[in-house]
Amino acid sequence: MQRSMRTLILGAGALGGLIGARLAATGARVSFAVRDRASAERLRQAGFRVSGVGGPVAVPAGDVAALDDVPARPELELVVLATKAQEAMELAPRATRWLTPGGTLLPIQNGAVSRLLTDLLGGERVLGGLSNLGATLHGPGEIEQRNAGHLLIGELSGGISDRATRVRDWLGQGVEVRATGNLSGAIWSKLLINCSVTTLGAIAGRTMRAYVGTPTGRAVFDRAYDEGLSVAFASGARPEKMMVDPIPPGWDGRAASGPEHEAWLARILDAYGDLKPSMLQDFERGRVTEIDFINGYVAELGRRLGVPTPVNAAIVETVHAIEQRRVAPDPELLEPLARAWGGA
Ligand SMILES: NC(=O)c1ccc[n+]([C@@H]2O[C@H](COP(=O)([O-])OP(=O)(O)OC[C@H]3O[C@@H](n4cnc5c(N)ncnc54)[C@H](OP(=O)(O)O)[C@@H]3O)[C@@H](O)[C@H]2O)c1
Repeated sequence: MQRSMRTLILGAGALGGLIGARLAATGARVSFAVRDRASAERLRQAGFRVSGVGGPVAVPAGDVAALDDVPARPELELVVLATKAQEAMELAPRATRWLTPGGTLLPIQNGAVSRLLTDLLGGERVLGGLSNLGATLHGPGEIEQRNAGHLLIGELSGGISDRATRVRDWLGQGVEVRATGNLSGAIWSKLLINCSVTTLGAIAGRTMRAYVGTPTGRAVFDRAYDEGLSVAFASGARPEKMMVDPIPPGWDGRAASGPEHEAWLARILDAYGDLKPSMLQDFERGRVTEIDFINGYVAELGRRLGVPTPVNAAIVETVHAIEQRRVAPDPELLEPLARAWGGA
């Protein structure tokens, strides 16, 4: 019998709602913290209804509180931090005050949030996480699971700890959870894809397959990826194989040309090339993106480590310009990115 963990999910959006609802549906006790009392009331009224991959689930929302109503007592063993990156950074210090001694904060954001929070709050408090689960929120508590993915968790310092195993077994009752001894490498592998496939697709307003066919699109993809991989290695990380090997064949700081590289790119395209970039959805909804934790993190870390990252830095500027509606997503926006290092 799995020993229970007193668990709170902070942020009941697409992923937080999916993880919490599927866990609650097994009979596990789980509580939620949401933005304010009005959101809490809406969720209580609606309950959770999960559809899509993994089968339907309908459960009452149960123990839901506004963030400010969560008792400031150390009584939780696990807080799953399931807001977007910016809010995760803001809320994490507060969430750690709800944890028992030995309790765990589990961030699951894209980008470098797990790494940044580990640096900020210490590795004893933070267990790293990232999500290969895909989910969409259609309304309060109404979530569509879009793939048969999993949460990947692990220690940023490496190795598989007892607590990673325990959290895996506990949350794994609801959704698939895997523990890795190289979470830092997995974070980098996902970052590399987000920095190139996702962000450039969002800027171009296209899937990767649609933008990478032009010489400019291809050159900017290669360069953004090369810069990211150079920073990953300079930081000491060993990017871990996810769907595709993150290190292109013959890579020596630059993409090698030739059939092996083309075959590698074809595998990237098969895995990610036809997905609508999630950041493009943020643009369409007028939401702030997580760019500062994706290409922004690569550019900032590159600066600190002395690795040039002009393309990633220019990508960040372009995304901010789109967020501020100074320009709209367009393949033409890739041209100045190519000039950022004098390419194309
Ligand atoms: N969804 C996916 O398929 C997917 C896949 C991989 C990774 N991720 C990553 O997972 C993270 C979460 O993504 P998501 O898609 O689940 O986002 P989401 O649907 O926007 O959910 C985020 C939730 O956080 C809540 N929130 C924001 N500020 C809060 C606060 N101060 N107090 C309490 N709750 C607050 C939001 O509430 P409001 O509605 O009130 O703002 C929203 O319900 C992101 O980093 C994303 O990149 C998502």
